[in-house]
Order: sequence, then C-alpha cells, then structure tokens
Amino acid sequence: MHGVSKLLALCSLLALALPALAEVGWWRTAQFYQIYPRSFKDSDGDGVGDLNGITQQLPYLKEIGVTATWLSPIFTSPMADFGYDVANFFEIDSTFGTMEDFEALLQRAQQLGIKIILDFVPNHSSDECEWFKRSAAGDEEYKDFYVWHTGKVVNGIREPPNNWISVFRGSQWTWNDERQAYYLHQFHHKQPDFNYRNPKVIEAMKDVLRFWLRKGVYGFRVDAVPHVYEVEADENGDFPDEPRNEWNNDPEDYGYLDHIYTTHQPETIELVYIFREIMEEIDAELGGDDRVLLTEAYGPLDVLMQYYGNETARGSQIPFNFELLSNLNNNSNAYHYSELIHNWLDKMPEGQVANWVLGNHDQSRIGSRLGADRIDAINMMLLTLPGISVTYQGEELGMTDVFISWEDTVDPQACQSNEEEFAHLSRDPVRTPFQWSDEANAGFTSGPNTWLPVATDFNLVNVKRERSIPLSHLNIYKQLRSLRDEPTLKQGDVDVTAISPNVLAIKRSLSGYSSYITVINVSDDVETVSLDSVFPLLSTKLRYVVVSDKSIRRTNDETFANSVLLLPKEAVVLSTI
Ligand code: GLC
Ligand code: MG
Repeated sequence: MHGVSKLLALCSLLALALPALAEVGWWRTAQFYQIYPRSFKDSDGDGVGDLNGITQQLPYLKEIGVTATWLSPIFTSPMADFGYDVANFFEIDSTFGTMEDFEALLQRAQQLGIKIILDFVPNHSSDECEWFKRSAAGDEEYKDFYVWHTGKVVNGIREPPNNWISVFRGSQWTWNDERQAYYLHQFHHKQPDFNYRNPKVIEAMKDVLRFWLRKGVYGFRVDAVPHVYEVEADENGDFPDEPRNEWNNDPEDYGYLDHIYTTHQPETIELVYIFREIMEEIDAELGGDDRVLLTEAYGPLDVLMQYYGNETARGSQIPFNFELLSNLNNNSNAYHYSELIHNWLDKMPEGQVANWVLGNHDQSRIGSRLGADRIDAINMMLLTLPGISVTYQGEELGMTDVFISWEDTVDPQACQSNEEEFAHLSRDPVRTPFQWSDEANAGFTSGPNTWLPVATDFNLVNVKRERSIPLSHLNIYKQLRSLRDEPTLKQGDVDVTAISPNVLAIKRSLSGYSSYITVINVSDDVETVSLDSVFPLLSTKLRYVVVSDKSIRRTNDETFANSVLLLPKEAVVLSTI
C-alpha cells in the first residue's frame, strides 16, 4: 500500500474508534455552570451582584473547569420576578451594569475560553414592556401581541374568562382598565403572556435571539418552555376550563387544576425547532463554534425527548434532564438512582447527548434535598455520567438552603402565599449570596447590606477555605472535573447498575483505555461489594482515583475488585489498573 494511503487508512481507523471532539460539537461533553447574577459577586457595594462582579470572577470559573456559563436574566426589568419579567429584551438592567460592561464580560470570557449563554424568556414580558403598553393602548402593531379577553358577566358581575390558575397563585387573568379587557399571565400579574398565535411575536423573538448571538453569546437557556402556548381559542374566542385535580383542595393553588390546556401544547415543540433554526442561521453567518439551546421544561419524558428534534428538524441540543433533581429524595435507594439515570439514557433518541441537572435557582440545594453527607457522592455521579453536566452556583462548595424568615422573604412565588405556606414555596433559600471567603458578607460585597441574607455557615463553606482543604467539596469537584478530560469519561460507554438497595455503580469504559467505576453507598451501613461480579473488568485490582473525607483509603491506594469496602455514604471513583 502507498505510504500516504496507509496513513489515511490508519487515520480513518483511529477516527472510527475515537472521533475528534471538535468534529462533534464542543457542548457534547461540556460542563455548564449556572450563575444567578444577583447573587454571584457584587462589584459596586450595593448588595446586589452585577456583571463586573462576574467578569472579576471568571478566573474562578476557569479554575473549576467550566466550559460555558448560563446567566439568569440580566435585562431591563422592574424585578417583580427578579428579572424573569423583562421590560426590554435588548437592554441590560442598570442593577447589573451597562452594555459596555456586558461586552467587557464577553471579551474576558472569550480570552479565558469560557462561553456565555443568556437566559431567554419567550413566554412573557413585563407589564412595563413597551410592547405591552402599546398592546394595552390598542396600537395596531402590538394589539395582538398578548392574550386578551373581555371576560364574562355572571349575575351582572364581571369575571375572568375561565378558571385558569397562575403558577404564582390566583387567576391567570388580570383586568386592564385601559384596554377594558383581561390579559393572560401564567406566572405573576406583572408577567403578561405573549400571544404566540400571532406570527409577529415569533418574528420579534427571533430578533431578540439574533441580537445577542451577534454580540457573541453562544446560545440560550430557554425559560418556562411548556407554558409558551395555550390551547387555541374556539370560534367565539373562548378558552375551555381546565379540569380539577381531586387531590388538591386549595382553589388558589396551581396544583388545583390539571393543566391540559395551558402547558405542553404541541406547537411548543415546533417553536423550539424554529428557535434552533436561528442558532444555525447565526452559525452560518458568523462561523465558529455551535450555538446551543438549553430548554427548561418539566414534564413527561416522551414529551421532553421530542425537544431534541425528529427526522426532519433539529431541536434543543440540551433539553434539561431534571429526572434526578425532581425525583430523588433523602430516602431514595440505589435502585431509584439507577432507574432515573436509565430513564433518560434509554429513552434518548439515537445520536443525542445526555445531560444531568442537579440544581438551579428554583429548587432546593443538593445538600438540603439529599443530605449534606451526600454532596460529594452526587457531584461524583454528576461528573462521571456521560455527556453534559450542569451545576448551579455554590453546589461545588456544598452550599445548603438558607433559612429566610417570612419578613425577609422576597420571592413572589412565596410572597403571594401566606406565613404558613411560604416556606415550601420560597426560592429565596437557594438564591443567597455566593460564599467567596470568611470576610464580612462572605466576600460577596464590600457594602454593608445584601439583597438576601448571607448563610450563617459561610465561615466554613467558602471558596477561600475550601481551596486550602485537600478533600473539601470544592477540591473534590475540581479533581472530578480534571478526570473528565480522560477519553474514557469523554467518549466511553456507560453501564449503570444498582448492586444492592444501598450501592450504585457507574462504569465508564473505552477500548484501549482504563475503565472508571463510580461506586456510591447511599446508605448509613458499611457495605462490601464485588464489582467484578457485576461488570466485566479485565482487572482483578482497582486503584482509587477520587476519594472523599469519608474514605479511609487514599488516592492511588489499591483494592481487589471482588471486595470493595464502602463506609456509610461513602462514594469513590476507581480505575482499572
Ligand atoms: C422559570 C424560571 C423561574 C421563573 C419562571 C417564570 O421557571 O426558572 O425562576 O420564575 O420561569 O419566568
Ligand atoms: Mg451591584
């Protein structure tokens, strides 16, 4: 064989075995990190985090190996839902800084090789948005931008058009005097829903996407996707009532109704495909790395899988996988863990990539939800499963929910309830200032106040201290992150199994490379497991690669594969030798 063609043959053989990552998309093995900008780092002393604060701390993101970070909304907003009520989709809110600050952030991020992803809120705007004001005034261009209805009159009294209930309690319909009609809002009354049956709305939102992509962001986390469409109105312009959920007896509560007409309408999936086309349009226009969509939808798996796309259309590369976040609890055994992981892996369409979300700004933190003694185990699972990991700020430190009194509560989801109910509704406990050091206010701000109280344990749980402790949550996270650069973890196969109710094992393997096995004891018992009886291992001995402070073994210690000892709640990563 000719020398060159020999080489080519060899290359194609290698390529078959190990496709170069550049060819398959940077996001396929990425570490995503969510920043909640109000609470990450305050640069100007007003007690609220800002863009310059994020820019200052980008080296920290580099330190923990983040590929891309998605920022909760930074756009002009009256902050009724802390930025998820956008008044101008093309401007930066002055609380966070200026457009120049944002451009500086993008530039610094690019220098460091970190991609910036923005939050895109398609379902609604603020009622203070110019588009809504014009709609209320009946302006020809904007009058059908939102969902309006004159309501009905019962016994001479005006009532909302139907029984729909808002996510934040009470009717989804609020009266507007100027327009003399009700407008629909699936969330807060200051968050009127767009009317996606009006093609002009879709065009307006495409322009929002183009605007930020051309500035240099690499995509969007798309907010509240299942809520974007409501069922189409009938010939009289009316919408049907939603049926009752018999298990719920509070007529103001969102759970009182079964949301068959206001969530997961089929048009929503099509809309995500349309948004993906804009990512590809800008890929073609600007070149460079792929632009991505991360879609936020809680719902049935068969619906979520459709977000990936179908034979004729591409969809979201990353339909958030909330299986573990939504379904694990303190009492879950290893079978539950295994089943939830398999649910996604087994249902995912061919050629797509899994993602694993363990926290966000709406959900109780890992340490509070699953136990502070499981933090390292959960991070080991997150970072050794195949595909994309998504970490919410502070989870790498093991931050836990902070108790916030009714008086100090600011989250609208809690404030619209009452003193008895607010605690299980409030999202404030997971949104408290990030803990940088043991200085005043955890080094979050130089000012005297913070918009939410700082956790009382910040002396122990902070970046500065955890950097200096070899087996801190932070250092374990960093070790796991480095391990993800191994070809086996990037591209290897996965085998997930519960060895017993107490022990979960995740094996990653790639021909020609060491295999890695994450073993997690979810229980309070001491366990001894035989790994070579559940996995074909090709090695009788295993080496400890990552241990936690619960381990009596150290990194590089060896053990026989047929007898791996695990202390209560211990988790380790082992490799074949
Ligand atoms: C999403 C956001 C949440 C917000 C809601 C309304 O669920 O994550 O924080 O309140 O949408 O925009
Ligand atoms: Mg500030």
